[in-house]
Order: sequence, then C-alpha cells, then structure tokens
Amino acid sequence: MSTPQIRIPITRPAVGREEADAAAEAIMSGALAQGPRVAEFERRFAELVDVKHAIAVANGTLAEEAIIQGLGIKPGDEIITVGHTFSATAASILRAGATPRFVDIDPVTWLMDPAAAAAAITPKTKALMPVHLFGLIADMSALGALAAKHNLAMIEDACQAVGATQNGKQAGSFGVGAFSLYATKNITSGEGGMITTNDDSLNEWLRAFRSQGAKVRYLHEMLGTNYRMTDIAAAIGIVQLGKLDQFTAARVTAAARYDALLAGAPIVRQGTPAGNLHVYHQYTVHVGPARDEIVKDLANDGIGTGVYYPIPVSQQPYIKERGLDVVLPVTDALAKGCLSLPMFAAITAAEQEEVAASLRRAVERHGGSAWPA
Ligand SMILES: Cc1ncc(COP(=O)(O)O)c(C=O)c1O
Repeated sequence: MSTPQIRIPITRPAVGREEADAAAEAIMSGALAQGPRVAEFERRFAELVDVKHAIAVANGTLAEEAIIQGLGIKPGDEIITVGHTFSATAASILRAGATPRFVDIDPVTWLMDPAAAAAAITPKTKALMPVHLFGLIADMSALGALAAKHNLAMIEDACQAVGATQNGKQAGSFGVGAFSLYATKNITSGEGGMITTNDDSLNEWLRAFRSQGAKVRYLHEMLGTNYRMTDIAAAIGIVQLGKLDQFTAARVTAAARYDALLAGAPIVRQGTPAGNLHVYHQYTVHVGPARDEIVKDLANDGIGTGVYYPIPVSQQPYIKERGLDVVLPVTDALAKGCLSLPMFAAITAAEQEEVAASLRRAVERHGGSAWPA
C-alpha cells in the first residue's frame, strides 16, 4: 500500500517574510553570533514571563542541563520528574550528573501528581522538575508548597508552555524556567532555548557558564562551555515573540472548536483546572487501545497526528539500562492510548471539521477510550 498523502499536518510553522527579513538583517549587520539581538530577545522574554532575568541558550535541552548544574545539583542527587514527557527532560538530568526519579501524572491534567511527588522525596532529593506538557501548567500551588516544605529547588520544564498562565502567573515564573524555541514550538527561533529566573547569582553563573566560564574575555574563572544562541536565531525569535498573543489566541480558539466538534465522542481530553490558560502546544486526546488503528484511519483520510509519547521516558532503554525504570499506571495507559490532532495558529475551521469528522468515524469503527484507566 502506498503511503497516504497528508493534507492536514499536525503542525505548520508560522514563519514568513518578517522572520526572513529579520534574519537577513542580522546577517547583513555582521553580528552573526551572540550579540545585541540576543540581549534584546532576553530582555523581552524576561518581560513576558515577568522575571528579572532571561538567559538565551542554544536549545531547551541545554537550558535544563545548565539550570541543574547552576543550582549546584551533583552526582548522587535526585530530581523528581514525570515519566510522561519528552526524553530531553530526563536526559538533561542525567547529562548534568544527577538521577531522575519518575513519578506518575494526575489522571485529569496528565501532569505531575503532587501526592506522587511527595511520596518520592528522599534525603537525596534536591529538586522537583514538573513538565508543563502540551501547554498546561502543572499544579504549582501544591508543588510549590511541597518544594518549600522540603527545601527543594523548583525547575519548570516549560519547553511546551510559553505564554501559559496559572492564576495570572506565567509559566517559568514559579521557579527556574526552561523553554524550547524549536521549530515546531508555539514560537520558534529555529533551534533555541531560554532560561528564566529571579535569582541574581544563578543568572550570573549561567551567563558565564554558557560562554566558556568567562565574565571577562579570556579570564575563565570557572569550567564553562558554549551553549550560546546566535543573533540570527534571536532576530527570528524577537519577531515571533511579538506575535505570541495572536498565536495563543488562535490556538485557544482552535481548541475550543475541537471541543465543540468532538462533544460526546468516546474520547477523553486533558483536563484544564480553573485559573489556567492552556496554550495548546498540542491538542491531545485519549482514544484508547485502538489508537494505532485510529491513527492509520486518519492518515488514510490525509490527516496527520502525533503520538506524544508512545513509550514513556520512564520505560526507555537508556533509563532501563540504568535501573531507573518504573511502572507508572496512568502514564503507561496514556502512552498506549493517546494521540494529538493537527494544531497550529493558522488551522482553519474547515480543516478542523474534517479532522473531527475523521476521528469520529475512526472511534466509531474501532471503539474509543476507556479512561480513566
Ligand atoms: C517537554 C520538553 N522538554 C524538553 C525539550 C527540549 O527542547 P529542545 O528540543 O529545544 O532541546 C522539549 C522540546 O522538544 C520538550 O517538549
């Protein structure tokens, strides 16, 4: 059988002439590496998140690795995170020399379950690292209280959640935030990452660390590295940041349209508690054990889907190899039965109608969901 032609993809990057012009201007200025545009991007990003400092780096994975090292977390120390996340969350913990301890997610929000996190704390625990997956912020009141009680650092994996808010506070402003600006994210700089913090000494450490450990050129006071962002990337990021509100509004409208079009279908959505602005990096549904058949049916109708993630990071080979794998019932059930629908700022109502009709046919044919697990 030939591969079906996808007409409605899972995402379409929202970049064009303005981003191209900004990148060209950076190139023509001669400032290609980290320069004035990176500084401006950082200033604007800090303003958005409402924190004192934003530090640009090469990508979100390195943002996380840098934060962990900057907080002084060392080999033997443990960081509590979720199994329902992209590999980078756990990989950055291991790369920084620490040990990830995976806990389950809440069955409604699909984000870190505060009770599970509380139960996993040991004398070795140094930080909580919730993941604001799909664009929804984890329960930061409960997790913040837990971190304060046990004197733990709070690292927010906000890689998918730029612009999301909880009770009026931005993702990345509850602890130290890590953002990704990868090509498919709600805003992009091609590749890129951003760290947000109110901690002056962490800010200073991170700025030196990303530039070979030097505050003054060629005086390397500490062991550093090169995690810098280019001015070309920052130029694109600045343009994108200016469009964030418009992109978020379009995604929220599209999500509400899916909600209405799929009302009554045998599927389960990620639950959004009151007080949250979900920015819908992904619109994800649990369709149940026939997920792979349903994905095929949608593809045959020309509709792209994503599965985030088919194997929980808590079950990945490199985690098993290290004896860190755990069985997490909610996480494992979600991995077997979830799929994400096409979601991007420019998706049209007609495209969404087609997606919803195709999904309805598929779940009728194969049977849908049986959540909660
Ligand atoms: C939840 C999560 N964490 C970390 C990352 C890593 O970001 P990057 O791809 O920019 O390294 C991503 C993005 O892909 C992500 O979605």
